[in-house]
Amino acid sequence: MAKIISEDIDHVLFTEEQIEQRCKELAQEIEKDYEERHIQPLVVGLLKGSVPFMAELIKYFKHPIEIDFISVSSYQGTQSGDVRINKDLDLSSRDKNVLIVEDIVDTGRTLKEVKQLFYNKGAKDVKVVALLDKPDRRLVNIKADFLGFTIPDEFVVGYGLDYNQCYRNLPYIGVLKNEIYNQ
Ligand code: IMP
Repeated sequence: MAKIISEDIDHVLFTEEQIEQRCKELAQEIEKDYEERHIQPLVVGLLKGSVPFMAELIKYFKHPIEIDFISVSSYQGTQSGDVRINKDLDLSSRDKNVLIVEDIVDTGRTLKEVKQLFYNKGAKDVKVVALLDKPDRRLVNIKADFLGFTIPDEFVVGYGLDYNQCYRNLPYIGVLKNEIYNQ
């Protein structure tokens, strides 16, 4: 029998209810900002970690939005904006107000490069919403415009976040038992 993934979790950091509540608040905050600027966002999820977060977040938008997804891998040590695109957007981002949806900001490298990528593609405005932020790990000067939760320097899984491609489907965010890393 395949294992039960919740049994690998040492403790829960954020429950499904806490995440849902924060997504509602974030959606209101984001809509207010876009409404005040009289613009409509193209909401772009960074695959794959952003999928559950993006699905929850967009349910609470009351005004029209467009959505799309992109998958990138970053090259280490190259100039900013130089990312390999594994799956590009279906829509054009030229002259659009792009809102990037990211699962977690860690060193900040991915976000910095993806932001630059969208400006290179001709986006008018690029903002970021992230579910989690680990500021203690930051290596480049970047932060999310809209943020769910700040966490300490701990490796977390669930709600889209993986360890070796597993645990993305957990409905909450948790910390793995130490023994999982030593297997
Ligand atoms: P950055 O470029 O270092 O900011 O990396 C961001 C990416 O690293 C995220 O989109 C995640 O895919 C991954 N990542 C960073 N920290 C964690 C974590 O605690 N759990 C799972 N994935 C993480």
